[in-house]
Amino acid sequence: MAINIKNNIEQEKMRTAGHLASEILTMIGEHIKPGVPTKQLDKICHDYIVNIQNTIPANLGYKGFPATICTSVNHVVCHGIPNEKTLKHGDIINIDVTVIKDGFHGDTSRMYLVGKTTKQGERIAEVAYECLCNGIRVVKPGNRLGDIGHAIQNHAEKNYFSVVKEYCGHGIGEIYHDEPQILHYGTPGTGIELKEGMTFTIEPMINSGKAAVRLLSDEWTVVTKDHSLSAQWEHTILVTNNGYEVLTLAPNETI
Ligand code: MF3
Ligand code: CO
Ligand code: CO
Repeated sequence: MAINIKNNIEQEKMRTAGHLASEILTMIGEHIKPGVPTKQLDKICHDYIVNIQNTIPANLGYKGFPATICTSVNHVVCHGIPNEKTLKHGDIINIDVTVIKDGFHGDTSRMYLVGKTTKQGERIAEVAYECLCNGIRVVKPGNRLGDIGHAIQNHAEKNYFSVVKEYCGHGIGEIYHDEPQILHYGTPGTGIELKEGMTFTIEPMINSGKAAVRLLSDEWTVVTKDHSLSAQWEHTILVTNNGYEVLTLAPNETI
């Protein structure tokens, strides 16, 4: 199947959606502290999206997902469901949000350190971020998907962390999870060739222990099998004529 190439008008809509998604993650930052239930973070994001941004929360009801954001704490790898449990000092949490604006999706996630931090928490959040950046930096026309996967895997394993294999990044646009799949591991020079106008996410999940994961009985929450810490960051990327544009950059963020 052919991969959808965005024209200039579509690229501009992706830019807008990406910017709005990033804004939510910046807004929620000050609310993340010990004692706060993740459900409260979900409500704040939902109200901001619907009442202030006038955008559509893409996760809510997606394949039956019951919330606006995914809240993945400590050994939760991804797709954590917001609940009544409160955050505590030293927790690490990923918040993942997607909005739809004018028919186009913006998808991004960040790690947050809660209260008094731990060395292990700081370290895995930092290495996972470096993995994302290294993956992004090899994006340009003519390079291949395997180059992205390799850059991520190489950095994770060099730091004695492991890469989750079961979940991946994805093409994105009018369709939330489109082709191609963006694997976070791979071999340089292999896979589909990148072309100007492609838009996709890169969203590596990095574990401090083994790579294996387990799906909980709620059919959403993914955890590390060995209960080791896991961290993830996600950006939506546009392939430009000579490199990349990060559509979900945070204020003051440079890749
Ligand atoms: N935002 C996630 C991703 O990065 C997908 C979440 S789907 C949900 O692709 F249903 F769990 F919200
Ligand atoms: Co995504
Ligand atoms: Co996401």
